[in-house]
Amino acid sequence: MKSNEIAKGVYDVGVHDWNISDFHGYSTPFGTSYNAFLIVDEKNVLIDTVKGEFADELIYNITKVVDPKKIDYVISNHTELDHSGSLTRLMHRIGQDKPVYCSKMGLKSLSRHFRQNLNYQAVGNGQEMSIGQRTLSFLETRMVHWPDSMFTYLKEQKILFSSDGFGQHYAGHEKFDDEIGEAIMPHAKKYFANILMLYAPLILKLVEKITDMGLEIDMICPDHGVCWRKDPVKIIDAYVRWSNQESKKKAIILYDTMWHSTEMMANQIAAGLSAEGVDVRPMYLRKWHRSDIMTEVLDAKAVVIGSPTLNNGLFPTLADILTYMKGLKPKNKIGAAFGSYGWSGEAVKIIEKELTAMKFDVIEPGIRVKYVPESEDLDACYTFGQKIGKAIMG
Ligand code: FEO
Repeated sequence: MKSNEIAKGVYDVGVHDWNISDFHGYSTPFGTSYNAFLIVDEKNVLIDTVKGEFADELIYNITKVVDPKKIDYVISNHTELDHSGSLTRLMHRIGQDKPVYCSKMGLKSLSRHFRQNLNYQAVGNGQEMSIGQRTLSFLETRMVHWPDSMFTYLKEQKILFSSDGFGQHYAGHEKFDDEIGEAIMPHAKKYFANILMLYAPLILKLVEKITDMGLEIDMICPDHGVCWRKDPVKIIDAYVRWSNQESKKKAIILYDTMWHSTEMMANQIAAGLSAEGVDVRPMYLRKWHRSDIMTEVLDAKAVVIGSPTLNNGLFPTLADILTYMKGLKPKNKIGAAFGSYGWSGEAVKIIEKELTAMKFDVIEPGIRVKYVPESEDLDACYTFGQKIGKAIMG
């Protein structure tokens, strides 16, 4: 078996992006990969391409398996540019007239991204295509991650090419889950929390659909990170758990501070929560990246948010995380607000309004302290933490 042959006649021709550290606002300290898969049969099929600047590497990787001109079909599971950015360059190389199969929505979005007339062919949900000895079928997966998204299933080998679904932003020499072990799960969790959390209801329906179809899966090949071959059910089960937003007895405290007053409050709230047995983590917003915060939000039962009042409003880092969090639609959370202020003190009310808009259960009125907390203020913060802790522990 050649080194990039991941199953008989199926090759990983994707690339590593070792250097990316910010994937449009998502921190990627381990880089990522843009996976693309070549199936060699009577018809040679390429599933997805890679980000534009890696087009030459993609073509080189294909060349190691077959002459690129011998690719008969291209399948675009997803239009986003990390998977289609090399498409026009690739088509120039393999022949502009070769068909590019995509979903009906993909037809629209590919045409909007690449104005040249490629031979786009829409495939329907459940449609099958013989490629010689083997058969491909297509499964529409709208909003996992864009309206155009679809999965491609290689029937005889029971391989699901799942585009963004079940992916991880991780670049490594491991190709499979069994080569990296449990260490891949935090990357998969972060990916879900930051890319897919808001589509949780659709993901639950998709898993139900796959189960109803009786689709047998021996391997899941996402477009980012490692493939799941040892235990594909493990990542599917994790997606069900994350989509249901099952929480742990855990709280996070998100805060910023100007002169340490809000920080002192955060520390006492944390102590109160901890005294009740809650796993609590204060997260200072100028230390933690928003995407790492959302990974913690995913399975936290309570999110406690503190801000000083600055210019009659929130401290700017709070506006950032609240905007980001609101868009990702976390559910089943307890929320609470706190903060110090000098004269007007609007921040706590603004946070509470945002928590209510996100349908968080605000069980305690927010706590505000003028200028610098005194002993009785810190005692009140500790008690505030205890009350939230009791609600979490049930
Ligand atoms: Fe990896 Fe939605 O693109």
